[in-house]
Amino acid sequence: MLAIKNLLPILLSCAPAAIAEVIRRNTACNNSPSLCSKSYGEITHLGAHDSPFLRDASTGYSVSGNQFYNTTVQLSAGVRLVTGQVHKNNNDWHLCHSDCKLLDAGTLESWLSEIKTWLDGNPNDVVTVLLVNSDDATDSELATAFEASEITQYAYTPSSTSAPTSWPTLQELISKGTRLLTFVASLSSNSNAKYLMDEFAYIWENPFEVTSASNFSCLPERPSTVSKDIPSALSSNRLPFMNHFLDKDIGLGIEEPDVDAVATTNGQNGTGNLLTAAQTCKSAYSGRQPSFILVDFFDKGPAIDVVDELNNVTDATGRVPVPNTNADDNSNSTSSGTYATGFGPAETGSVSSGAASPSSTGTSDASKSYVTSGLCIALALASLI
Ligand SMILES: *[C@@H]1O[C@H](CO)[C@@H](O)[C@H](O)[C@H]1NC(C)=O
Ligand SMILES: *[C@@H]1O[C@H](CO)[C@@H](O)[C@H](O)[C@H]1NC(C)=O
Ligand SMILES: *[C@@H]1O[C@H](CO)[C@@H](O)[C@H](O)[C@H]1NC(C)=O
Ligand SMILES: *[C@@H]1O[C@H](CO)[C@@H](O)[C@H](O)[C@H]1NC(C)=O
Ligand SMILES: *[C@@H]1O[C@H](CO)[C@@H](O)[C@H](O)[C@H]1NC(C)=O
Repeated sequence: MLAIKNLLPILLSCAPAAIAEVIRRNTACNNSPSLCSKSYGEITHLGAHDSPFLRDASTGYSVSGNQFYNTTVQLSAGVRLVTGQVHKNNNDWHLCHSDCKLLDAGTLESWLSEIKTWLDGNPNDVVTVLLVNSDDATDSELATAFEASEITQYAYTPSSTSAPTSWPTLQELISKGTRLLTFVASLSSNSNAKYLMDEFAYIWENPFEVTSASNFSCLPERPSTVSKDIPSALSSNRLPFMNHFLDKDIGLGIEEPDVDAVATTNGQNGTGNLLTAAQTCKSAYSGRQPSFILVDFFDKGPAIDVVDELNNVTDATGRVPVPNTNADDNSNSTSSGTYATGFGPAETGSVSSGAASPSSTGTSDASKSYVTSGLCIALALASLI
């Protein structure tokens, strides 16, 4: 009954900035409002290499562990790509480091359930899973674990079996509820589970297994069709994937994550540092930033600062700093092996720098805005009655 002109004075009396603020905060995507309109392939996603393989109390501080904190903590702190190796263990598919006798992080299904629970609680986030298919599981075998964990409800299915010229924006993935992108290296067929994307059809990677800080390379290595050929890799539309973790050769051809070097490896400035390497590769790729950066001990650096820098994110919101309970999380391998959880170094400040925790400034502004806009909506509704 009411003409729109009767509403106008009321709506105009509402502070537009307050409403805009509410909308902005509600639509932060992967921790930043500025990323919502960006395409999935245009931004850089921080990856936790070997996400479930931990160097913490649960593994007796295994030197094979690549991360100090579990997948849930990683995601809450801003990681948006998690990788793991799938191995056959008896008749089950497990996440194991090289061999299930070395480090068995449990079933694929239970790891996917953990990620699914995180997605349930974080509706504005897009997550990528990359599975290294060590024992050649078929699409149906992998799909059994995906379906049992119920993570399939979030699965994104690509519209093409080759790399598209552009990917959906984060907002589109969030709005459609297809917030889980899954790549498998490699998969001979996905006819029974179209959401399992054969990694090297969509992505190319630089070398890994680097053991010297001066040996990180921007050159494509896999797939072989674009090996050492940056122009071919770029024109194939595949997404650039930057491995950036250092191994230590401990003899007999055995390598383990070089935890002692991580301050440099995940750092910002100089040879072997993450930001320097990413900027070098970005230049080598004619200004194209890597879509993924994969690191060990993700909380060191902190690596998320480098990703924010590449993404031009200065307003990160909603990240939870790592709990700082891992006594080994001090890059100090001289400690004897008697670990007591709860006595880690006080370094929350450095880990959370650049990453506003949910309780930091802005919350009060936001709740004020909610009140303001609530009043405006109430007024607008009242005027209709
Ligand atoms: C992950 O680690 C946190 C902190 O140590 C712990 O509270 C949580 O229970 C762990 N979650 C899983 C699924 O293991
Ligand atoms: C660094 O790379 C060069 C060239 O590929 C190779 O010859 C050398 O062995 C590498 N050094 C180390 C420590 O891996
Ligand atoms: C990087 O390090 C060099 C040498 O220590 C220094 O001159 C330069 O200002 C640093 N750059 C940044 C961005 O921190
Ligand atoms: C960040 O800014 C740089 C420099 O303007 C630009 O090249 C890049 O595409 C931007 N990245 C994102 C994700 O906005
Ligand atoms: C490593 O541990 C030793 C022995 O507790 C200590 O003296 C040293 O300061 C530690 N180094 C770092 C970098 O924390």
